[in-house]
Amino acid sequence: MAKSTIGKEINQVLSQLKENMFAGKRILVTGGAGFLGSWLCDILTGTDAEVFCLDNLATGLRENIDHLRGNKNFHFIEGNAENFSQPQRLDIILHLASRTSPEEYQKHPIETLKANSLGTLTVLEAARLNDALTLYASTSEVYGDAQVIPTPETYWGHVNPVGVRSCYDEGKRFGEALCAAYRRQYSLDVRVVRIFNTYGPRIRADGAYARAVPRFITQALLQRDITVYGDGSQTRSFCYVTDTVAGMLKALTSPHAKGEIFNIGNPHEITILQLAEKIKQIAGSTSQVTFHPLPEDDPKRRCPDISKAKTVLGWEPVTSLEEGLAKTVDWFRSRIF
Ligand SMILES: NC(=O)c1ccc[n+]([C@@H]2O[C@H](COP(=O)([O-])OP(=O)(O)OC[C@H]3O[C@@H](n4cnc5c(N)ncnc54)[C@H](O)[C@@H]3O)[C@@H](O)[C@H]2O)c1
Repeated sequence: MAKSTIGKEINQVLSQLKENMFAGKRILVTGGAGFLGSWLCDILTGTDAEVFCLDNLATGLRENIDHLRGNKNFHFIEGNAENFSQPQRLDIILHLASRTSPEEYQKHPIETLKANSLGTLTVLEAARLNDALTLYASTSEVYGDAQVIPTPETYWGHVNPVGVRSCYDEGKRFGEALCAAYRRQYSLDVRVVRIFNTYGPRIRADGAYARAVPRFITQALLQRDITVYGDGSQTRSFCYVTDTVAGMLKALTSPHAKGEIFNIGNPHEITILQLAEKIKQIAGSTSQVTFHPLPEDDPKRRCPDISKAKTVLGWEPVTSLEEGLAKTVDWFRSRIF
């Protein structure tokens, strides 16, 4: 899938927006040069909003936003969510700035905690001063090793507060607590999405940045061993990027979503071994699957209950895993070969 195909997918998401409530608005996207943030910058710039993309390029890439640089409605601010020079007036804020890949955030635990604590505080203060509608990108990881599957928003979580993943899990939980405090104390319209594993074009596949889907795809395309952690019986639910960003935009704009929290993910649960085999088959690869030690505190199962998003937002994913993986494999193939 080449760049022009990403453009088509962005237009499809744009065409789903029932009414354009973004035109003329000044919108800050923190983490805007990352995987999800850059899709959102593309979509929002396409609505004639004025988009301010804030990113410290910790994991984000200039190439994700370079094509927007000439657009008079797009501005890139290189800086940290914790302390950045804020645009004059803001109508909407989407706060996505945070390291995301487990291997990588475990290498930078304090930075990850700061982005979701101090970063979220700075963003919420800016939202309060501007009375800006705000969306916080939280995560399924707030549920930890969930004991209730599929997991509804009402589940409080089962998290190791001092484990190797706690910098991310507890950072996001603190970020959510801050959002709840700003809602209660200042009546700020801040909404939270708990995003479950999302994949698609622009997700990074290199080194510690690589999450399971991009790692397996590049390994399959390069005919290298596909490295599964544990015996591969742990499950995850994978959502294609256009479905996730459409869900985020619905949570941001729905009149019924004020102050609410939504699971955004695909409820189709599969084992990691099944995922590896599926990717191998879609990529037409002869790679072997090899097994490696399971990382500490790795959740055994993960699957969202999306009843609330279905009912309140009228949203559910529409891209099957096979279709989404095929598009993602094409995109990686066009970059590798
Ligand atoms: N993609 C997923 O599967 C997924 C799942 C759950 C939650 N999320 C959340 O969604 C958000 C975006 O995830 P993504 O997959 O696009 O990850 P990503 O790593 O591609 O994007 C995150 C962006 O934030 C930037 N960033 C990190 N720390 C920053 C800081 N302190 N100040 C400014 N910028 C900073 C990075 O450079 C990067 O561009 C994250 O908050 C993540 O926790 C994503």
